[in-house]
Amino acid sequence: MNHLIQAHELQEEALDHILRDLAVEAFSARFEIAPNPCVGAAVLSRGRIVAKGIHRFWGGPHAEVEALSRAAASMTPKESWDTLVVTLEPCSSTGKTPPCVEAVLASGIKHVVIGALDPDPRHRGQAVEILRAAGVEVTLLEPKLGPDYAWGLPDISQHFLNWNSSERLRRPRPWNIAKWAQTRTGQLIPPQKVGEGRWISGPTSLAEVQLLRGRVDAILTGYGTVRDDDPRLSVRAPGDASSPPLRVVFDSYLHTPPDARLFAPIDSSAAAAGLEAAGPVVIFTRPGPDAKRARSLLEVGAEIVALPPDDNGQLSLWAASAWLWNRGVRRTLLEAGPTLIQSYSDHDLLDQVRVYSGDVAGGRGASLGRLLSEHRQNARVDRESGSDVVLEYFL
Ligand SMILES: NC(=O)c1ccc[n+]([C@@H]2O[C@H](COP(=O)([O-])OP(=O)(O)OC[C@H]3O[C@@H](n4cnc5c(N)ncnc54)[C@H](OP(=O)(O)O)[C@@H]3O)[C@@H](O)[C@H]2O)c1
Repeated sequence: MNHLIQAHELQEEALDHILRDLAVEAFSARFEIAPNPCVGAAVLSRGRIVAKGIHRFWGGPHAEVEALSRAAASMTPKESWDTLVVTLEPCSSTGKTPPCVEAVLASGIKHVVIGALDPDPRHRGQAVEILRAAGVEVTLLEPKLGPDYAWGLPDISQHFLNWNSSERLRRPRPWNIAKWAQTRTGQLIPPQKVGEGRWISGPTSLAEVQLLRGRVDAILTGYGTVRDDDPRLSVRAPGDASSPPLRVVFDSYLHTPPDARLFAPIDSSAAAAGLEAAGPVVIFTRPGPDAKRARSLLEVGAEIVALPPDDNGQLSLWAASAWLWNRGVRRTLLEAGPTLIQSYSDHDLLDQVRVYSGDVAGGRGASLGRLLSEHRQNARVDRESGSDVVLEYFL
């Protein structure tokens, strides 16, 4: 046993227990935060938990910040907070949110227990150094082997280790989430008559998708979807419409019509109330597009980007990914038909899949059943969303 017990009268067993509980809670948010790691944190006072926090969604507050703000809202005075337990080394650089190490220092807590160091070689150990230099005691705890979740990164954040792999750092590209709705027979196009409208999934799932749209940097689709569905690809309530994602169409021949709903203005009252917003439209196309079509799309505000062909003569999805990365896009939502989703999968460009199976009989067109059976489904969850069934996993 080490000085930790004497200094804080906290048993290592107790810390192990707290870290395991935090890990289980943090893991439950994995699909909302990826490619960020699952992280849980707790503020302690004399060995008792004052408040806990986890990282709940991409772009949202980190676990330490949530735990500290919940502690501030508790009855326990700040002066008696003595320890912060966190499953992963606090971040020391500014990303979507300010560095957590600053929030920890500002809290005045004098002891930080860390479950795992940051795996990113550019940041690893930096927060530990900053905290120690400021006089904060830092304890690194090793997960004990056991049947339940430990808090080690391979246990709860394998996706984050992949995101930080040398291959990924050498050739960076956004984290791609493919999402689709399918009928009971696995088809993405509903039968001609499906209740009142053309939706396969129900209102709870549609609301979830709006939340997801508000938490990505780009929504990607193919010309087939624009042609058949004429979608807006906007973010609507309950999604966060404050910073709407880019809307990207893969359209080799610029067939997208300038009067598509993608270019229609958002209803002014919905926009003013923050209930709907839409990002800029980017159209990926072949080099040397038809000048007249290009002009009419530029006039309605589209940005046209020529991509080189891949070995099959299709728009290179790797080139698209590199362009998006350079544009600052880190997390995308692929809301396309079966053709583009299959292409993304064939090029090993999918990181996460979410499938809504609606209670709709029959259907038209291709199914992605083969793709689903070929994917190695990691950290999979099967859950319900209203009357729909949702399957979600990492690749
Ligand atoms: N259930 C759902 O969740 C859902 C979601 C979206 C759409 N849909 C349905 O899907 C149907 C459309 O299916 P779809 O498969 O035609 O649509 P899609 O996958 O959205 O679009 C396919 C088109 O994208 C273009 N494209 C450009 N580069 C590509 C590349 N590298 N790889 C693959 N495609 C590329 C191709 O057209 P060009 O050669 O002309 O460029 C291709 O035909 C619609 O009826 C729609 O209702 C369903």
